[in-house]
Amino acid sequence: QGEHTVSITVVGASGDLAKKKIFPALFALFYEDWLPEHFTIFGYARSKMSDEELRNIISMTLTCRIDQRANCSEKMDKFLKRCFYQSGQYNSEEGFHELDRKLTEKEAGKLPNRLFYLSIPPNIFVDVVRSASRTASLPSGSGWTRFIVEKPFGRDSESSGELTRSLKMYLEEEQIFRIDHYLGKELVENLSVLRFSNLVFQPLWSRDYIRNVQLIFSEDFGTEGRGGYFDNYGIIRDIMQNHLLQILALFAMETPVSLAAEDIRNEKVKVLRSMRKLKLEDVVVGQYKGHTRGGKSFPAYVDDPTVPNDSVTPTFAAAALFIDNARWDGVPFLMKAGKALHTRRAEIRVQFRRVPGNLYRGNVGTDLDMATNELVLRVQPDEAIYLKINNKVPGLGMRLDSSNLNLFYSERYQREIPDAYERLLLDAMEGERRLFIRSDELDAAWAIFTPVLRELEEKRVAPELYPYGSRGPVGAHYLAANYNVRWGDIS
Ligand code: BG6
Repeated sequence: QGEHTVSITVVGASGDLAKKKIFPALFALFYEDWLPEHFTIFGYARSKMSDEELRNIISMTLTCRIDQRANCSEKMDKFLKRCFYQSGQYNSEEGFHELDRKLTEKEAGKLPNRLFYLSIPPNIFVDVVRSASRTASLPSGSGWTRFIVEKPFGRDSESSGELTRSLKMYLEEEQIFRIDHYLGKELVENLSVLRFSNLVFQPLWSRDYIRNVQLIFSEDFGTEGRGGYFDNYGIIRDIMQNHLLQILALFAMETPVSLAAEDIRNEKVKVLRSMRKLKLEDVVVGQYKGHTRGGKSFPAYVDDPTVPNDSVTPTFAAAALFIDNARWDGVPFLMKAGKALHTRRAEIRVQFRRVPGNLYRGNVGTDLDMATNELVLRVQPDEAIYLKINNKVPGLGMRLDSSNLNLFYSERYQREIPDAYERLLLDAMEGERRLFIRSDELDAAWAIFTPVLRELEEKRVAPELYPYGSRGPVGAHYLAANYNVRWGDIS
């Protein structure tokens, strides 16, 4: 057995995701010595560029961890020296042949492994995989070739199935790493730890004690610059069908047989397949309109020149989902996702049932909801887990108050939390598939959302307009109220 080498090719190297996320994540891994000793990074894109030019572009987005700035620039130089560039078309084999030649040269004398990161628009996925897999695949037995692919994986069940079939013409399922970067976030990773290694939560994790679960995503900026992509997909496909649904699956799945990828993914598929198809009456859609605040004006979604003036694409949606199994029967899982809202936040809120026959009803004030326990996992920003409990206000009287038991990551851990892409890239190199989406999971996820997406689009359901920077359409409150629920993030 000789020494191994890993080459990572970022296809779509000049795109936003590559510059903002992938190269910085690779550097962070290098910085903390997580990359193998022998590695090479290639950028691949259409524009002509020298290695040096690519390095200049990459270097602008590299940063070092706060606590280790001392040798930062030295490390950056070392990293950049291992980055190279190859230009070529996405649908022709020529560029990939040349890439193959250069990769082979660098791999000389070592056991080669190749990772391709497809950071490209979905309409050219298959072209690239076809070209890259024919020209840049390795002789069998010498190592692995893996492809990380980014969503969107189609627009509905049908197109997603088609994409899967096309990819499988060139690749084995085990070579395909479908990324959902929310699965690489620290708090999402911690969800299973919280559930399965804390006895206090285990017995509570069901319809017997949980009244509803809320999955909330909000951003305080619009689709600026991405309107062209976004208008084709909308918030339900952009955030709900993947990021929020993946979190829901981890939240609600049964205990897996082990922590092995297949065991976890088997449980996720099961819970996804137990979910009811979403109905139109359980969805509220919204779209942001222009707004002026403090002398500053914020654009409407349709002001984007790449978005049609009469677009009905939702930039906000709220939905009530149900899992028809023994554990979750009747528990609403409420999702809410929106752009151009008042804040940037992602969180999971678990609202527990009321205490039956609560002795202290009269002491909580008039608002009985105050008295229910709520567990919050704040995924971002300022990662935290907190539990709302009721306690007595100190003093001679008897008045109850709701207080938080807090675990704030910034207080508890004096270290920076790695970016999701760092963990996922590392896992892909190590062949760890736990945090990647299997094709049957994807099918199950689309099955839940496809009918409602179709109906929304066929009927051109008009989204409720909400001002840029607001808390979103009031329709979301009515939806929750239908299930006797109040959104926990609006207090
Ligand atoms: C992406 C969506 O998957 O996730 C974007 O396409 C969204 O629209 C982004 O902005 C949010 O990711 P994060 O990690 O910044 O919360």
